Amino acid sequence: MSEPALLDIQGLSVGYGRSRVLFEIGLSVPRTGALAVLGRNGVGKTTLMKAIIGELPALGGRITFAGEDVTALPPERRVRRGLGHVPQEHAVFARLSVRENLAVGALGGGTAEGMAAMLEMFPKLAQRLDQPAGTLSGGERKMLAIARALLLRPRLLLLDEPTEGVWIGVIEEIAERLKALSKTMAIVIVEQHLELALGLAETVCVLDRGRVALQGASDEIRSDPRLLHYLAP
Ligand SMILES: Nc1ncnc2c1ncn2[C@@H]1O[C@H](COP(=O)(O)OP(=O)(O)O)[C@@H](O)[C@H]1O
Ligand SMILES: [Mg+2]
Repeated sequence: MSEPALLDIQGLSVGYGRSRVLFEIGLSVPRTGALAVLGRNGVGKTTLMKAIIGELPALGGRITFAGEDVTALPPERRVRRGLGHVPQEHAVFARLSVRENLAVGALGGGTAEGMAAMLEMFPKLAQRLDQPAGTLSGGERKMLAIARALLLRPRLLLLDEPTEGVWIGVIEEIAERLKALSKTMAIVIVEQHLELALGLAETVCVLDRGRVALQGASDEIRSDPRLLHYLAP
């Protein structure tokens, strides 16, 4: 028998007020490795991440995490169960220093070892500990956001566009860290950089107008002629 999924989503529908954005989404994520969520702007990728962490309610369907139905749980309780989230926007407090952002991210549960591990993973942050996060480069800000989420020791990390606004030279560095992390934890990543996404993730889910248009192993999706059709602007 195959191992049960860490995250299992079935028939998930989500919207804003009366406008429905996601329809009958189904996906499953194992305990380690990465799933990439791809799709054009506006197809509902961020909406899906917000629904998984609990910032948006499910209008239908079910989200199961670590064997438990979390569909009705508020975000903080999902976080306590091991879901981590790096949102696309406002992921760090601009006026707080790097050190303060990390302390707040750890919600009092951070340890000196945890902090040291993050600074080892992202050495650029170590040189900027007392600098306001708002003065960091795009890449440093993304690293800080990832480090904050990791301090809570999630079992699954939701990453919404972790290389958006990041200089090309630093994208590779972030990709390497994520690849290493995915050996020991689960990652769901929304990523515009197609090669990065396919290189990191074993499985891919392509959304189109709020529905799953393609889903499968990265190697198969990579050579599927429909992929570029669904990603073309
Ligand atoms: N707060 C909101 N209120 C109403 N509609 C929204 C809101 N946020 C996003 N949407 C709409 O939901 C759709 C999906 O948005 P989003 O999930 O952000 O897409 P993506 O992340 O794939 O670019 C878009 O049509 C967008 O306009
Ligand atoms: Mg988005």
